Amino acid sequence: MIIKENAAGAKEKALDLLSNGELVAIPTETVYGLAADASNEQAVALIYAAKGRPSYNPLICHVSDIEMAARYVDIKTTAQKLIDKFWPGPLTFVLPRKQNCSLAKAVSAGLDTLAVRCPQNETIRALIAELNKPIAAPSANPSGKISPTCAADVEEGLGSKVSLILDGGPCVVGLESTIISIENNKISLLRPGTIQSDEIAAVAKCPVFDREGSEITAPGQLSSHYAPNTQVTLKYSGPPNDDIFIIGFGDNQGNLNLSAKGHLEEAGRNLFASLRKADQAGKKAIAVVPIPATGIGIAINDRLKRAAAPKDHA
Ligand code: TXA
Ligand code: MG
Repeated sequence: MIIKENAAGAKEKALDLLSNGELVAIPTETVYGLAADASNEQAVALIYAAKGRPSYNPLICHVSDIEMAARYVDIKTTAQKLIDKFWPGPLTFVLPRKQNCSLAKAVSAGLDTLAVRCPQNETIRALIAELNKPIAAPSANPSGKISPTCAADVEEGLGSKVSLILDGGPCVVGLESTIISIENNKISLLRPGTIQSDEIAAVAKCPVFDREGSEITAPGQLSSHYAPNTQVTLKYSGPPNDDIFIIGFGDNQGNLNLSAKGHLEEAGRNLFASLRKADQAGKKAIAVVPIPATGIGIAINDRLKRAAAPKDHA
């Protein structure tokens, strides 16, 4: 069932379902999330089952504010500075999980760290504050498929598995949050997003290390992810072709343009919806023209690379 997030009684209904251990899909500024009470081991297990998510892949816990986060993770000076600057917003912190952390073990998938994020959406923050506990929420798509950026996308992929979908309209950012870990004051980028390394380094006043290519610590680092069913080719510079659906950018028009003006922020917002449309076009292949690998283009190219990777674990 889809209900507008600001409809009368919507928040209360969601609160009721979450308190009862059920799954609710929620809008965030990045992508829609598949939410459950993060302290309820059975509810968290439902998330893994609904998505078909491997049990070794941990979940992000969404908090209403820094005080709630501080109940479950150790927040030292560097994290504090970054949180003050970027929360609420699309920056997730992987931090040491407190010894007495009362959240479900499964949210950390056996690690001694916990990922925390404070989303921009005010209704969702109020919902979490009223629940008085974090909600665990991965992107609301079947594992390995394209992330949802509107309520209809969630309905299509997981409609039969959630008790309620809160509809907050299309996501304004459209790409998943930036994820950093902070360990002994060393900041590592685990997943690029719209908040970029250089902005983080400037606020933290220390370098941000890139973990790309090193061991798997976040599934963003598994090769195939965000994958359409149709094979995806990157950096396409060939002519129009009846067998190929071309996703364009700037002057490179294509069958559908991520941003005719060549704006990377707009392209990021449109990326997942465009991959869905391209997939539905039923052509033999999807080809994406080159996207500049600067600024938000780094996160866009990261998602594209995974969309194009061989589906070795989908
Ligand atoms: O924007 C977002 O972050 C969205 C919205 C719903 O908030 N959520 C999201 O969740 O993208 P998900 O599960 O699709 O991606 C979370 C990523 C995964 O790559 C997971 O491996 C990583 O975060 N992660 C979670 N906890 C972690 C931890 N303790 N250590 C390392 N990586 C972690
Ligand atoms: Mg995801």
